[in-house]
Amino acid sequence: MGHPQSLPLPATAGIERDRTVKVAFLTKLFGENKALDGVGFEAGRGELVVLLGRSGSGKSTLLRHLNGLEVPTSGQVQVLGEDLSSLTGSSLRRLRSRVGFIFQQFELVPSLTVLENVLTGSLAVVRGPRLGLFGYGKARRLTALEHLETVGLLQLAYQRADTLSGGQQQRVAIARALMQEPEILLADEPVASLDPESSDQVMNLIRDIARSKGLTVVCSLHQVDLALSWADRIVGLRHGKVVLNTLTENMTREEAMGIYGQVEVATITSEFQAIAEELDTPGHRERIARDLATAAATTRAGRKAP
Ligand SMILES: Nc1ncnc2c1ncn2[C@@H]1O[C@H](COP(=O)(O)OP(=O)(O)OP(=O)(O)O)[C@@H](O)[C@H]1O
Ligand SMILES: [Mg+2]
Repeated sequence: MGHPQSLPLPATAGIERDRTVKVAFLTKLFGENKALDGVGFEAGRGELVVLLGRSGSGKSTLLRHLNGLEVPTSGQVQVLGEDLSSLTGSSLRRLRSRVGFIFQQFELVPSLTVLENVLTGSLAVVRGPRLGLFGYGKARRLTALEHLETVGLLQLAYQRADTLSGGQQQRVAIARALMQEPEILLADEPVASLDPESSDQVMNLIRDIARSKGLTVVCSLHQVDLALSWADRIVGLRHGKVVLNTLTENMTREEAMGIYGQVEVATITSEFQAIAEELDTPGHRERIARDLATAAATTRAGRKAP
C-alpha cells in the first residue's frame, strides 16, 4: 500500500524533495549475468546520492541507465518526469542534453586549453565546425568563464589541459558538464584517480553545485568514508541488488553503523560491513591500479600521436 501521490515528502535540511530520478524494479541482464537485480531508488533536486559498492556491483550499469545508454531488461527508469523506455531519437537526445556526465578519467582533450575544453560541453547545441575559441560566440565564452570561476579555475583558462593536476582536470570536467546547464549530474567514480585532498575538494565542489544550482547528483564511489562525508543519501549495491538506502546527514562512520542496525532491514549492518570489507580487498585495489596504469598509458599514447 503506497502513500497518496499528494502527500508531502519529508523535508530534510532544506533539500527540496522533488523526485527527478525514479528507478523501480530495474533488472539488467548481460547474457546470463544479472548486472542489476530489481533495483529501486529515487533522487531529488539538490540531493547528492552516492551509489556505493565494490567492483562489479552494478554502479556504472545503473548510471548508464539514467541517461538511456543502457536499456533495461525489465523495470522502470523515470528521469525528469520522462519514462526513458518511451523515448527514442530526438526525444532521447533532448533528455540526454539535460543530464551531464563526468567520468573517472576526466576525458579532457589534452592539447586544448582549459577554456576550449569547457566550451566543448556546449557541443550538443553548437552546430557546424568550430574554429577555435571564436567558433563558440562571445556569450558562450563568457558562460564558460563563469563556470570556470565556479570551479575555482578562472586563472587557468588559457593553460593547456594536460598541464593541470588531476584534481584541477576533474574540476574542468565539471565546468564542461555545467555548459549543458544540466538538471541532473551523473558522476562515475569521479575521484577514483585522485589523492585524498583533491578527492575532498572535488566532492565538496560537486555537493556545493548540487545545492546551489538545485541539481540532482548521482555519483558512484567505492570509498565508504567519502560517501559518508559527502552524500545526502547512500544507496549500497551488492551483486546488482540494493542492500542499503539511507540518509547520511550529520553521521560519522560509527554513528552510521549504529543507525544502520536499527532500521527495519535486519541485515543492513552486516551488509554495510560486507560492502566495506569487500572494498578493502587487495583485488579491488589492484584492479583500480591496473585501470589507472592503462589510462595513463592511453593518455601517453594520445600525446605522442600527431
Ligand atoms: N556491456 C556489458 N556487457 C557485458 N557485461 C557487462 C557490461 N557492462 C557491465 N557488465 C557486467 O555487469 C556487472 C556490473 O558491472 P558494472 O560495470 O556496472 O560494475 P561497477 O559497480 O561499475 O564496477 P567498477 O567498480 O569496477 O566500475 C559486471 O559483472 C560486468 O562485468
Ligand atoms: Mg564502474
